[in-house]
Amino acid sequence: MTIDGPAGAGKSSAARELARRLGFRLLDTGAMYRGLAWAVQQAGIPPEDGAPLRDLLERTTVELAGDRVLVNGRDVTAEIRTPAIGELTSVLTALDPVRDKLTPLQRALAAAGGVVLEGRDTGSVVCPDADVKFYLDADIETRARRRRGELAARGVDVGLDRVREEVLRRDRQDMARSLAPLVRPPGAVLVDSTSLGPEAVLRRLLEEVERVRCCTPP
Ligand code: DC
Repeated sequence: MTIDGPAGAGKSSAARELARRLGFRLLDTGAMYRGLAWAVQQAGIPPEDGAPLRDLLERTTVELAGDRVLVNGRDVTAEIRTPAIGELTSVLTALDPVRDKLTPLQRALAAAGGVVLEGRDTGSVVCPDADVKFYLDADIETRARRRRGELAARGVDVGLDRVREEVLRRDRQDMARSLAPLVRPPGAVLVDSTSLGPEAVLRRLLEEVERVRCCTPP
């Protein structure tokens, strides 16, 4: 099962709750990319496709252990959630060697079945044959307000105008890149969460999963 969509659409909580309700494993692919960005930041190497980046990628491991993110065995779950890491991640995810490292890893983790993948390209590139694919979206004001709330909950106080600008810039970067751009994957069910709370979104996702299960022969 895959859930893609732009920042602030409510993907993280929807994916977490959907996985919990189905007893599935959650693969937060954005967290994996953020883990790599953390390693790049720590190493102080330029975020461009070159020998230093390729070397670093070769020696870096990224694992998801429950809801923790481990980079070279170190728990970086909290450290990867800063605006600086978000920005660096968005730049790195446009580069071939970065996607070439994580896409096969994500496919291998998904191959076991019983997983909810969440990200930007999980239904279009990582697992285009997933049983159920969702594209979660919301209007820009709603997404900016949610993003601001998420940052505030982590003690980062940023004005709504600045958050809106950052969300729009991130949208442009994620949608315009030639490699695995954010798109609504063919066959994905569109869920617009602009006027839906988290419970209503979850209900909508579960209804669709139920519908597909009913119509799929064992
Ligand atoms: O969902 P997030 O904010 O944790 O994602 C961080 C960045 O990584 C964001 O710019 C989108 C990008 N990303 C991606 O390119 N492909 C994915 N499968 C997941 C995230």
